[in-house]
Amino acid sequence: MKKTDYFAIDFVDGQLEFLDQTKLPLAEEYCKTDNYEIIAQAIEVLKLRGAPQIGVASAYALALSIKNSALEDIDSTFNTAYNRLASTRPTAVNLFFALNRIKNVYKENSFRNDVYSLLIEEAKKIHSEDIEKCKAIGKNGLRIFKKKANILTHCNTGKLATSGDGTAFNIIKTAFEEGLVNHVYADETRPLLQGSRLTAFELEKCNIPFSIQTDSMAAVLMKEGKVDLVITGADRIALNGDSANKIGTYALAVLCNFHNIPFYIAAPTTTFDKNILTGAEIEIEFRNKKEVIEINNTEVTKNSYDVYSPAFDVTPSFLITGIITENDFYTFPYNFLYD
Ligand code: MRU
Repeated sequence: MKKTDYFAIDFVDGQLEFLDQTKLPLAEEYCKTDNYEIIAQAIEVLKLRGAPQIGVASAYALALSIKNSALEDIDSTFNTAYNRLASTRPTAVNLFFALNRIKNVYKENSFRNDVYSLLIEEAKKIHSEDIEKCKAIGKNGLRIFKKKANILTHCNTGKLATSGDGTAFNIIKTAFEEGLVNHVYADETRPLLQGSRLTAFELEKCNIPFSIQTDSMAAVLMKEGKVDLVITGADRIALNGDSANKIGTYALAVLCNFHNIPFYIAAPTTTFDKNILTGAEIEIEFRNKKEVIEINNTEVTKNSYDVYSPAFDVTPSFLITGIITENDFYTFPYNFLYD
């Protein structure tokens, strides 16, 4: 690996290797494990994060759970690991998609001596499919550029959020390589700073001109005519197109509507939840109040204060100009029921 390169997640010699995203951009430290509990904890604390990446990591974790299991314990080990991983984060549907793919292979093959290898093969398949989906999203997204653009984005949707080159971020990167990007404005993304830490890290690695701003500054950028389009990822998309994404996304979509700026979502089809009709059915994760009260483990306000801390919000589909997937480009009104 060249010094300037980085990877977010890989499966090497029977272990999951991943970049600890809580330390970025100040330190690039990799972790290696074949212990599913360590992976579950890494997902909970956002060492591993982003909807598609949570899916890929949990697929490997569930497969690894039976690596050293005795035959008589294998069912209970698998089920315990499934439930543990499913309890890590509720909003990104990619997690459940991946766990259920592994579960289906397990159910059909649990009697076989090589079941562990079969589960790892399935996890690798989910992994390589995600890489391909990212590539296709990058290309499909080019159609939203009418001219060289200034783009605003929220949270992180790059290599650090997927197992490929990203979703919304990969559209920005592909467009930049085509000479279609002037400047990127990365929202800080309070409280965990995925924008100012992770998106900034990735933009820097790609030599894309950018600035970071606190989330509340987006409105002024728009008012001053500095933003041509906004693009974000999603954690779960309902059949009517309502999309859950990092808290603050809904506010951006409302601002775009007010300022007549197109607002796009990019996501792989693994982010679609075909079991829910609208965003009202999406479970929103609430995070520990410490993430708001503290910065870098130092209290910046009183721990006794009550905190409201949803990790995601839902943008109603009528505010979304277009949804880009690996297969297609959709516009409002969305009806993914017939897809
Ligand atoms: O809490 P996080 O950092 O996992 O939230 C991630 C996001 O909200 C991303 O925008 C989303 O998962 C899409 S990633 C391609």
